[in-house]
Amino acid sequence: MKRNHGWIGVQRQRQHIAKRPAFPTLLTDRLRLRMLRSRDLAFLASLDANPHVMRYLHAGVLTREEALFFAQCQVERAPLAVNLHKWLVESNVDKRPLGWVEISRFRQARYRTDGSDDLNLGFEFSPEFWGQGYATESNTAVIDHVFEKLRVDRIVAYAQRANARSLRLLERLGFFIDGECQDDAMNLCTFLVLTEQA
Ligand SMILES: CC(C)(COP(=O)(O)OP(=O)(O)OC[C@H]1O[C@@H](n2cnc3c(N)ncnc32)[C@H](O)[C@@H]1OP(=O)(O)O)[C@@H](O)C(=O)NCCC(=O)NCCS
Repeated sequence: MKRNHGWIGVQRQRQHIAKRPAFPTLLTDRLRLRMLRSRDLAFLASLDANPHVMRYLHAGVLTREEALFFAQCQVERAPLAVNLHKWLVESNVDKRPLGWVEISRFRQARYRTDGSDDLNLGFEFSPEFWGQGYATESNTAVIDHVFEKLRVDRIVAYAQRANARSLRLLERLGFFIDGECQDDAMNLCTFLVLTEQA
């Protein structure tokens, strides 16, 4: 008997791709949050290769080559992601890229007893744009989107204890400190939680 599982598999995959919701572009007063594109590669790499940006991130500063490779992987993956997204944050006046915000899976059994994953908020902005409220404005849009569309009961975040700017931002966004954890490089981090009611 002729088998056609391969073809059926391809058709199913096509249907799955066709049904995938469009990437959610988010707009705020000053910003546009959109899907990563290949024209963002140099900007994304410049963040991960910047010692000020990476100072409190467990990955540490990447070389330019490492940063470009990592950026390339993320740009390629961007259209495939369902519900877990990385948004490029750009000025809605001149389209200048300012930073990125992402929502990713966070697996720490200690914090979730029902076996499910948490959604983790992450962000990086170019230092020349710090102190202008862009991170607050864009993260607020992402948080609203996540609670409205993904129907989760909470969002988590963690930051190294010394990362005062990040902790200030998270508390400004309504996160409360829930404990401590370690990142992949065993740095002591503050673990924070935001619930929809906050
Ligand atoms: C973490 C990070 C995004 C915070 O950036 P930030 O510039 O402090 O955050 P915002 O853009 O929201 O700006 C807030 C500041 O702008 C001020 N501000 C000016 N105009 C503002 C406005 N219109 N709206 C809100 N705040 C405004 C605020 O008062 C606040 O000042 P403060 O730092 O003295 O408290 C940034 O430091 C960063 O990219 N760090 C490197 C990457 C990193 O560590 N990521 C986190 C990993 S856990």
